[in-house]
Amino acid sequence: MKITVAHSTKEGLKAEYLKHFSGKEASEDFFAEGDSPETINAVLNALREKGHEVSGIEADDEALTKLEKNRPDIVFNVAEGLFGDFRESYMPMICERLGLPYTGSGPVELAVCLNKARAKEILSYYSVPNASFKVFSSADRRELEGMKYPLIVKPVAEGSSKGVFDNSVVENPEEAYKLVKECLKKYNQQIIVENFLEGDEFTVAVWGNGDEIEVLPIVSINYDDLPETAHKIYSYEAKWIWDTPENPLDIFKCPADISSSTKKGIEETVKKTYRVLGIRDWCRIDVRLDAKGVPHIIELNPLPGILPKPEDNSCFPKAARTAGYSYGEMLNKIISIASRRYGI
Ligand SMILES: Nc1ncnc2c1ncn2[C@@H]1O[C@H](COP(=O)(O)OP(=O)(O)O)[C@@H](O)[C@H]1O
Ligand SMILES: [Mg+2]
Repeated sequence: MKITVAHSTKEGLKAEYLKHFSGKEASEDFFAEGDSPETINAVLNALREKGHEVSGIEADDEALTKLEKNRPDIVFNVAEGLFGDFRESYMPMICERLGLPYTGSGPVELAVCLNKARAKEILSYYSVPNASFKVFSSADRRELEGMKYPLIVKPVAEGSSKGVFDNSVVENPEEAYKLVKECLKKYNQQIIVENFLEGDEFTVAVWGNGDEIEVLPIVSINYDDLPETAHKIYSYEAKWIWDTPENPLDIFKCPADISSSTKKGIEETVKKTYRVLGIRDWCRIDVRLDAKGVPHIIELNPLPGILPKPEDNSCFPKAARTAGYSYGEMLNKIISIASRRYGI
């Protein structure tokens, strides 16, 4: 097949940022979502090895023109984009405008999942368990006093642990107030404050459509390897600072060592989540048990990270590997799931 990989590299995001917001300073975690050249090259090469004719494009101002000229059979979309609430919807919207098939979820679903509060509202409507929460557009002491502690404070529409730091778990209204205020200023968006789920955490790769939705082996996240004083969360520090290739954190286990009833509960919850949010082709869903052991959805990642090397600890490829798929086979499978959906 003729495939174009649509991506947002760290370099590409920086270039766009400079072009459009020159003079404004970016926060330390601003480009956390961008793909590294190694990841993009690994995707391009793995697809070439599978016999496809492959090119890559940056999801920038020229993407529409380039795609229109190039007209691939399908676009493999991993582009996170840069601008606002619809940044992940940018490539899907271009593909739809050009009538080109593309992998993964559509513009509405990507935008909904990018906004953790909107996604949770839909989950609640369909009775899928998720932590109680409030959304703040300004720091409101009284609202924060009414909540049950501990809480976790996050920007409402970020990913890749952007804005989730070790100190994002707060124990009282004063701490919460300070942090909400600080985050509102730093991230320039609403802040979601959620009840803290204290049970075990998992991340679950799911792929397929319709009656063929399949849950890949569940990844469990174990926090015993974090510094002793750290909160038991997959924070920015845990993801990007404490886990290095030289000194890897041993925090993931796949398949997770869990009872068959916990496994079944998680699988049912993530499948329902995938369906009610209208996800297509593939997704990684974060799950955490509450104090009673009931699986709750934390958030969905319909554009999951796909770092190539096992030591990168990227969880979608990890789950696929456990299920017996090499990196190239995993990418090929996502493309064939999407192609089947389009009838090509
Ligand atoms: N309500 C919650 N209860 C317990 N832990 C949470 C909750 N929300 C987030 N976390 C922790 O913070 C991490 C990052 O939060 P998440 O919403 O998944 O952000 P990101 O989009 O950056 O992955 C999760 O993997 C989990 O460890
Ligand atoms: Mg997450």
